[in-house]
Amino acid sequence: MDQHTDKKQSHRPYTTKPEQTEKPPTDMLFREQWFPTDIWFVDHPTAEKTNQRLIKDIDRWYDRDQKGIVRSNSLGWHSAVDMHHRSEYNHFTKWLFEKVNEIFKGMSYHPDTQAFCDNMWANMNMRYSHNRNHVHPGALWSGVYYLQCPKDSGRIWFTDPRGEAHCMVPRHSKHKDKSQWREVYYEPTPGRLILFPGWLTHEVEPNLNKEFEEDDRKGWRYSLSFNFIQRAKPNTTIKERKGHDSGGGVFIEDLEVTDE
Ligand SMILES: [Fe+2]
Repeated sequence: MDQHTDKKQSHRPYTTKPEQTEKPPTDMLFREQWFPTDIWFVDHPTAEKTNQRLIKDIDRWYDRDQKGIVRSNSLGWHSAVDMHHRSEYNHFTKWLFEKVNEIFKGMSYHPDTQAFCDNMWANMNMRYSHNRNHVHPGALWSGVYYLQCPKDSGRIWFTDPRGEAHCMVPRHSKHKDKSQWREVYYEPTPGRLILFPGWLTHEVEPNLNKEFEEDDRKGWRYSLSFNFIQRAKPNTTIKERKGHDSGGGVFIEDLEVTDE
């Protein structure tokens, strides 16, 4: 099990090319790495105040609709997925958009495109509740923002998406490079936003906090989740994709069949 702890080692979005200062020896072995998986994180600048406000509104939402909906959540509460349309959360949603658009820039996405929030919801993980292993179909970037995280209330887990790479597991020295990890856990931290590709398999451990009574909300883990996709900016010339230079796609109704 590997534990992500060192914030200083996190990657910033902007990459630099290695400088080639001198001619390498002819037998030098070069290493190139392709197909990396990006996970981004940032802490909210006014987390304490922002989280208090969010928790207050989410508590009210929960009190009005305790049934919620069921997705990857087991035992926990999953709100309706229209949080991005609810104006009381706009103060947070706006900041979230800014961060996702930073990723768009950092990933060199087309400048005429921007982030589009597809859905957004709140989670309350009560004692023993967890989120099963899943991906977010149809999402380009997904993520979680933590509001309240009592001790042992469940870390988020990501696994190496290259299924074939799990077939052979070599032995490593104690300090293996991060690029060789097969799984990683992030400790939930109030005010922290974690963003990951929607296709990246993840799950959340059960809330095993025992410091509070089972129905004491102080012992529950509160978080937000969301899915973003890429859309063209208004008034730009970027066109929706029509297929691979094929002249555009067709529906079955478009097909005329004639007798020979
Ligand atoms: Fe998820």
